[in-house]
Order: sequence, then C-alpha cells, then structure tokens
Amino acid sequence: MSEPIHVQALVIGAGPGGYVAGIRLGQLKVKTLVVERDQPGGVCLNVGCIPSKALITASKYFDKLKHGSDMGLLADNVRVDMKKMQAWKGDVVGKLTGGVRQLLKSNGCDYLVGTAKLVGPRTVEVRGSAGDGGGTTTIQADHIVLATGSRPIEIPGFKFDGDRVVDSTGALAFSEIPQRLAVIGGGYIGIEIGTLYAKLGSHVTVVEALPAILAGTDPELGQVVARKLKKLGVQVLTGAKAKSWQEKGDRAVLTLQTGEGAEAAAVTIDADKILVAVGRRPNSEALGLETVGVRMERGFVPVDRRMCTNVPGIYAIGDLAGQPMLAHKASREAEVVAEVIAGHRAEMDVRCIPAVIFSDPEISTVGLTADEAQKLGRTIKIGKFPFAALGRAIANADTDGFVKVVIDAATHEVLGIHVVGNGASDIIAEAALAIEMGALADDLSLTIHAHPTLPEAIMEAAKAALGEAIHIINR
Ligand code: NAI
Repeated sequence: MSEPIHVQALVIGAGPGGYVAGIRLGQLKVKTLVVERDQPGGVCLNVGCIPSKALITASKYFDKLKHGSDMGLLADNVRVDMKKMQAWKGDVVGKLTGGVRQLLKSNGCDYLVGTAKLVGPRTVEVRGSAGDGGGTTTIQADHIVLATGSRPIEIPGFKFDGDRVVDSTGALAFSEIPQRLAVIGGGYIGIEIGTLYAKLGSHVTVVEALPAILAGTDPELGQVVARKLKKLGVQVLTGAKAKSWQEKGDRAVLTLQTGEGAEAAAVTIDADKILVAVGRRPNSEALGLETVGVRMERGFVPVDRRMCTNVPGIYAIGDLAGQPMLAHKASREAEVVAEVIAGHRAEMDVRCIPAVIFSDPEISTVGLTADEAQKLGRTIKIGKFPFAALGRAIANADTDGFVKVVIDAATHEVLGIHVVGNGASDIIAEAALAIEMGALADDLSLTIHAHPTLPEAIMEAAKAALGEAIHIINR
C-alpha cells in the first residue's frame, strides 16, 4: 500500500451533489478530491433524470407526429428505431458526463475512480476497480462530504433480474419496445417511464397500491395526468398491490391483490417486462459510517442546516441526507457544504424547493398547497388560469391543465404555485423565484410577461387570485 494522500476535502460520490461540491470547493481554492465508483454524474446524468428526459422527448415527438393530422402534418409509416434512439440517448448522457470531468479538472478538483470506505474519522480507504488493478489508496482528509445518493427499493416477490424484472435503470435501457409493460408504483418514476413506453407503442399497466397515482401531489393536478394516461391507453389499477409473478410460456404473469380483508381479491395481468418503481433508499451501507459513529435514521444521515452530521468534519448532502430526493436540492446543498468547509457563513436557508414530474402533461409545484396553507392557519385566496385560455398553449396544441396560485388573502404574499400542463417544468422557475423573494400576487400581476408565452398563465393566475384576470371570467 502506498503512502496516504492528504487533501483538505474528500467528496464521496460524483452525482449532482458530489460533483457540484467538488467544483465549488475547487473554486474556493480548497484542495479537494472527488471519489466515484462509477461514472461521473451519478444516477441523474447516467441512468435517471437525463436519459429519461431524452427518451421522454423522443416519445413525445413520435406521438405528436402520429397525431399531427389536425395541424396538417401528414406522416405515413412513422416508426421507431429503438437501437438508434438508445444510441442517441447514450450520446446525450456522454456529452454531460464528459463535461463533468472537464469542469472538475478546470476548477482544480482531483478525481479518483474507486469505492470509498471510512476507516477512521479523517481516513478513507479507496479500493480501485479490478480493471485498475484493484489496489487500495488511503486518503486523509480534514473534511469528508458523503454524497453517495440512493438506489431503487426492491419489493418481496420482485427481485430485479435485469431481464423480466427491472428498475428504472433497466427500463431506460430496453433495446426493444416491450409489447406489454407492467409498472409497479404510480409515483414519479412509474408515471414518467410508463407514459414514454405507452407513446412508443407498449401496452402499459400501472399498478398502484394507494387510491390514486402521484400520491403527495395536489389531487387536482394528478387527475389531469390520469385522464391523459387513459387517452394514451394506459391501464391504471389503483388500490392494487403487486404480490408476485411467475414465468408462463412466453410471458410473465403478475398476481395483484385488490381490496383488503373480506374484500381482498387476486387479479392477474400479463407482461413482457416488469418495472418496479416503488421508491428509493439511501446508499449508506458499506461506507464505514458505524466505524466512525455517524448517526443514521432509517438509512438516511441526518444533518443540520450547514450539512454537518453528528461527527465533526463529516458532512452529508443529497439523497443520503434525506427528502426530497431531488437533484437540484442536492446541488444547492453541495454549494452550501463547500462554502461551510471554506469557512464562509453559509447554510441551507431556502423557502422552497420546486418539484417537477415529467408526465403528460407535466406537473410542477413549489411552495404550499392550499391544504397545507390552511393547516398552517393561513387565510388564503386561490387564482386559477386554464391553459385552454392561453394563446401560446392553443398554438402549441397543448391545452390540458392549468396554473393555480395560492396567496395569503390579507397580504397577497405568494404561498404556492402549482402547475399541470406541458411546459410546466420551465415555467416553475419564475414561481420559485417569486416565493424565494417573498413576492406578492401583485408583483406577478404587474410584471409584464412577454406574449405569447406560457408564463403568461402565471401572471393571469395571480391576477385571478386578485379578481383581475383579463382572459377568463373572474369569479
Ligand atoms: P415514489 O415514492 O414517487 O412512488 C412509489 C409508488 O409506489 C407509491 O405511490 C407507492 O404507493 C407505490 N407502491 C409501493 N409498493 C407497491 C406495491 N407493492 N404495489 C403497488 N404499488 C406500490 O417512488 P419512485 O417513482 O420510485 O421515485 C423515487 C424518487 O425518485 C421520487 O420520490 C423522487 O424523489 C425521485 N424522482 C424524481 C424525479 C423528478 O424530479 N422528475 C423523477 C423520478 C424520480
């Protein structure tokens, strides 16, 4: 074993948490090493957010072309070359992951491929891959940032086998479009991936244990997506628990349980592939956290607003540090931790974290829902504006959905903005800025929004909350 390497900061994991921490630490002139066992970019860039959005975009174009005759688009025999689509997706991912390596380097941050384990409060061993000789490097670091992310949860009866039963990584890598796809879990991942394959031609069945899909989202938004899924031919079975599956001839037969107690019944469905998307768990095992006394709660590593764990000099960010498990929350925490390590007065002090579901139509939400605001004792007003009344949405042939603005009735402070509609993912940025800056509905209403654009719906919904909407009747 060679002499230990000494760095000021060691970051374990190079996802949207770890790599951003590495870049920012480099900018702040802290001598930093980022260790990653896989590709730079983590789940998000390699097998999550980015490849899923690439395939979602391709499936959207395919669907639009097939149904474009109203617009005068007449395309015969439009087909999908799945291998080519996958190769294109690979190029998209490659551009971004290559960019991460380059950004780390140009900010003066070192990078090492290997699997890290804490062996002492300031000491980490990194085992290289077998391909690199499998040697072990010992690193001594004044500060250690844990940014190891999360992985899909497995459920009894559905062991991932990479063939019939896959997680989101497997489902985003299909080389052929499955004829019948069963999706277990009607959450973010299940709905995004289920929709994309339905558009590419799969017969999709979503199995969701709860009474509705996209639980945790304002039901009024989820209903718009549920209606579109029906139009796309997706069968959604709610109140149904996936129990087991069996190989039968050329297919998998799943057994589901619907109802409880005396009402319980078994239902079977056929599938060629089964995607299990029932949530994710943090990667906190085999990291040596027990050895150094880092406290854990249900697998997560609790942190304070400066991202400090209970052990001085050890920090956690991203999915490992708790909900919401979102890339952009990890990246903000990464900037905070880098500044804390560099001795700045920084802390995680955000009013809101936006969330987006890339369903059809998209859902985006930020701040309090009407229910949440009322539970906090706020007297609220709600303003709603439908995309069906917006010029740009009509010209886009994407009129499903609406913007809902929740404001404090007395002060007009914007408490929450919730959008369902295609383009929701982009227009939520303005909503987050408004809440972060403590804007009033009047600010959104008085700001001139370029016409014809989708963000006009935010302005109109804010005006509606004030009883001053221009393009709908005020109620
Ligand atoms: P999720 O927590 O969103 O949904 C899982 C669903 O599975 C739940 O509705 C649950 O009731 C259901 N379920 C659990 N066991 C079941 C069973 N045996 N049978 C039927 N249904 C069952 O989890 P998901 O979709 O796996 O996503 C994980 C996380 O990844 C999300 O919470 C999110 O933080 C992140 N993510 C974010 C995305 C984005 O920002 N656009 C996209 C994808 C994931």
